[in-house]
Amino acid sequence: MNILVIGSGGREHALAWKIAASPLTTRLVCAPGNPGMEGLAECRPIKTTDVPALVALAKEIAADLVVVGPEAALEVGIADELKRAGIACFGHSMDGARIETSKVFLKAFAERHGLPTARHGAFDQAAPAKAFLDGLKPPYVIKSDGLTAGKGVIIAPTRAEAEAAIDDMLAGRFGDASTRLVIEEFLPGEEASLFALTDGTASLLIGGAQDHKRAYDGDLGPNTGGMGAYSPAPVLSAAVEALADQTLIRPTVAGMAAEGAPLCGAVFAGLMIEDGTPRLVEYNARFGDPECQVLMLRLESDLVPYLMACAKGTLAKMPPLVWRNEAAVCVVMASDGYPENPVTGSIIRGAEQDFGPSVTIFHAGTMRDADGTLRAAGGRVLNICALGETLAEARDAAYAAVDRINWPGGFCRRDIGWRALAR
Ligand code: AMP
Ligand code: GLY
Repeated sequence: MNILVIGSGGREHALAWKIAASPLTTRLVCAPGNPGMEGLAECRPIKTTDVPALVALAKEIAADLVVVGPEAALEVGIADELKRAGIACFGHSMDGARIETSKVFLKAFAERHGLPTARHGAFDQAAPAKAFLDGLKPPYVIKSDGLTAGKGVIIAPTRAEAEAAIDDMLAGRFGDASTRLVIEEFLPGEEASLFALTDGTASLLIGGAQDHKRAYDGDLGPNTGGMGAYSPAPVLSAAVEALADQTLIRPTVAGMAAEGAPLCGAVFAGLMIEDGTPRLVEYNARFGDPECQVLMLRLESDLVPYLMACAKGTLAKMPPLVWRNEAAVCVVMASDGYPENPVTGSIIRGAEQDFGPSVTIFHAGTMRDADGTLRAAGGRVLNICALGETLAEARDAAYAAVDRINWPGGFCRRDIGWRALAR
């Protein structure tokens, strides 16, 4: 099969790595891809939101399947256009992607379908938004409606900070993304990411992981896209996963189909788990980054037939996924200054040496000079991933590899996996 992967991050490198390993894959093209994918796939310099150029590329390579990584491509309707062109696509329609692209939509949908989540209100005016705070206890959770690359959620410890966040967002802090807000109650518990595949009717859990959103050790510092992940996550017991499947994933797939926007692709439930009960923090309409990296390392089954089954509506016929017994860890190395002001251009040495069979490196924001020198080109730059018999072994292998990379311009957290290791 000819397969096109859209995206350029560590998530897409991991997907391309897994897809390239499938005996079903004859040609793999990534748009735009990154320097780490060059050995696996042909990379074409097309932006993930340039829908006409991506559709033209899919036609040019006679793609049997297009796999969409990032939400930005879904938001501008890549899946809808591919469908119109008769090309199979793993990725939600623009309407389906609203479970991620509009928090106002998601919260109203959750209410319509009785999904367990935080009580909320949606507002486009400051006065009623502030009045809604009267019925909540601190900390207050203020969310801008649209996509903000993970920056649009403020957890305000005091009323004054909550009101300031409301004013700031409605004044256009995130442009069109924050002309509407969601205010909701704070959910206590432990956070985890649960993933499912769906073809619009059937769904299949594809594992869980725990991310580390804060920039620095001890969960301190600003929120990021994710500084590291591990899988399995002990908080996602079989019972919790089954409950989340029953109370969230299945009703969501059925509800979106009933509302005329069937899902097709990955569903990422951000969960808050308290005393064994999972509640929904948010949905994403894609795999997580860096969660995808650890899932791909642990997945034994060939991924391609499952992606195809989602695109073709035949997921119900697929056998259960098979997993490796090992644990996986991913340590994100980021440019100094990330997330606020990442300093790019610094030279990275030793990232492409042989680290042995347990370690896999996925690239994200890297670039390569004509002479082969690797440089940082973005905020999150490298994903140092490892498998181990135990989580501690996987973590040790990942950090041993980190220590062999010579990159004075980058940093990473040193405590990836701490929640599970502290149990
Ligand atoms: P989101 O973009 O919705 O994932 O929010 C970013 C982060 O804010 C989440 O990963 C949670 O850690 C936190 N968060 C969001 N909503 C809530 C909530 N209602 N209660 C507690 N924490 C939340
Ligand atoms: N790591 C969280 C996300 O992909 O949104």
